[in-house]
Order: sequence, then structure tokens, then C-alpha cells
Amino acid sequence: MASRDVMRSTTRGFRRYYNPEVGGELRMDTNTNVLGSNPAAEKYIREQREDINGYPNTYSDGLRDALASLYGLERENFVAGSGSDEMLDVSFKTFTEWGDGCVMPVPSYSLYDYFIKMSGGKPLASELTEDFQLDVDDMVRSGAKVAIVPSPNNPTGNSFRQKDLEDLLRRFGGIVVIDEAYGEYSDSSMISRVGEFDNLVILRTFSKAYAMAGLRVGYAAASLDLADMMNSVKIPYSLNKIGEGAAIAAVKDQEFIERSKKMVAEERPKLAAELRKLNFGPYPSDANFILAASPIDHSVLVSELKKKGVMIRDFGDKRRTENCVRMTVGTAELNKIMTDRISEVLEEFG
Ligand SMILES: Cc1ncc(COP(=O)(O)O)c(C=O)c1O
Repeated sequence: MASRDVMRSTTRGFRRYYNPEVGGELRMDTNTNVLGSNPAAEKYIREQREDINGYPNTYSDGLRDALASLYGLERENFVAGSGSDEMLDVSFKTFTEWGDGCVMPVPSYSLYDYFIKMSGGKPLASELTEDFQLDVDDMVRSGAKVAIVPSPNNPTGNSFRQKDLEDLLRRFGGIVVIDEAYGEYSDSSMISRVGEFDNLVILRTFSKAYAMAGLRVGYAAASLDLADMMNSVKIPYSLNKIGEGAAIAAVKDQEFIERSKKMVAEERPKLAAELRKLNFGPYPSDANFILAASPIDHSVLVSELKKKGVMIRDFGDKRRTENCVRMTVGTAELNKIMTDRISEVLEEFG
């Protein structure tokens, strides 16, 4: 058997990502849009007549033009690719030198550690405060080359304070990447301000509110200079023609995004109240999911719930989210199914 010593030293400890066995369960574990596939993107796919023999546009100019008009920016403020995960990869590849510190809040998105190490960087953890806000002084003191900050944060759900993000942008000596994967659900996006800060990179995705995770489309927005650097590092053609065409159609259908936002804004407090009745401890959320402390053992809850056909995500073994689970906010109907199944598990194992 080959020893893992053949691997590059910085990636030797890697293990595969979340890959559960699924068989028709209700998926409340991935924070995708519960209203179902994006209708404009689906229509585009049904009707499209793309020549798949030809390459896509090298830098996805069509999608970058659509995003420029959506946000009142320029095409050259954008980088497009295969999910915001590719944009994370490109961010660290572009701005991290071998051995550079890259600072990230704890708890936050688990793949940051992976992408930083992939680029030869050194992950530096910055503890969030008691109420899951940024410790800006600590991040500045880290002396890191890149700071990666998800807002709203995954898995905690809250957005970081605008004044803290501005403070970080002004005082941090390196590049600040704000991952707005759930930005559509929050009122405090920084995307329109990429011209104001020459160290700001915003990451966005079509996987969550846009309901297109299966097509793998994401983008970054930054000043013209930073975006040009990132475009020259990213893999050319990494966004395929069909994904680009579907994303352009989806950008032009903002009614679906507004409908999705409204549904989450209405259902999130109702779900939190229902969870409180079941003795969970839900945390405040600005996203389409809720992190909550479980009243029974987290792993029993998650595995027994799966047997009843509902999947939620387990964060109970991780520091700062001890015994917590994360669940997507569903429609009223889906939330009822989920909380009914949860109360059955609590009756059996509570
Ligand atoms: C905070 C955060 N960033 C990035 C991603 C990756 O999204 P994508 O599907 O665009 O690669 C996720 C997905 O869960 C996420 O939660």
C-alpha cells in the first residue's frame, strides 16, 4: 500500500469532504434553496442549443456583463468560475506566498483550512467573540497576508457588523476576502464597495439563493486591479457554457430571488420559535439556515432523523458549536415535516 508520504507535505493530512449516503431524504443539510431548481436556469437548459464542440468564452464575459449591470459595476470587476469554492482557491493562489499566514474566524466554513493549505499558506485561527462577532484587533495582530471572512457566517448564521468589516479593511495589512455565499439573504453586502477598498475581494455563489448548486457557478468581485490579477491566475474556461448561460438567465430573473428571500425572512423566526418549544437553543441568523444547540445528543439526533427521512448537519463535535446542529430554513410545509420528525426523535430518545 502506498504511504501518504508520497503526498505533498502540506496536503498529507487531508481527508475527503462531506459525502453522505443519500436515498431520497429531505435535504435540510446543505443550505440550498428549498423552492427547488432555479426556474429561469431550468428553462434555459431545456431550450438551449449551445455548440458543445466549441470552448466557452475564456473569462465568461456574458455572465460578467450580466453581473456588472445587476450591481452597477464593470465587467472587469468580476471573476467567474466553478462555484465560490473555485473563487476561494483562486483567492489564495493569487495572494498567498508559500508559508504566508492566512487568518480565518473560528467557527467558520470548514473548507477555508483546506484551501489555505492547498496554496501552501498557514491557517491562523481567530476566535469569534462570545456572540460570534469578529475580534478585529486579533485578526489585525495576526499579521496575516490574507483574511477570509464569511458574512453571513457558516455555520453560525449571523452577519458580521458592517463597522467591524470596515475597520478590518482599513487596518488589516493584507487582502480581505469576504465570502458572501449567503449574501442575498442579508441586508449588509459589501459588493457595491469594491471600488472603495483596494484590498477587498467579495465572493458570491449561484449555489444557495439562486438554486443552482448542481451547475457549480460562482464569482468574485474586486477592484479592477485585483480582479485582473485573479483572472490571470484562475484556470481558463473553468466555467462551462451551459453553466454560464443558465447563470445569465438566472441573474435576469430577480423575481425568483426576491421570492426566495421573502420566504426565508417569513419562515426563519417561525422555525426558531418552534425549535425553542422543542428545547433547542437556536442562534440568531441572517441566512437561510439556523444553528441550534440540541436538547439531546447531537449525533443521536442527526442519525435518527436521517432514518426518518430528514437530513440536517451535525456540528456537535466541533469547538464552539458543541452539541449543535445546523438546518436549512424550509417552507412552512417542509419545516413542519422537519420539526414533526424531530419531536418524534426527542420522544424516543429524550
Ligand atoms: C460560506 C460558504 N462559502 C462557500 C461555499 C461554497 O459554495 P459553492 O457551491 O459556490 O462552491 C459554501 C457552501 O456551503 C459556504 O457555506
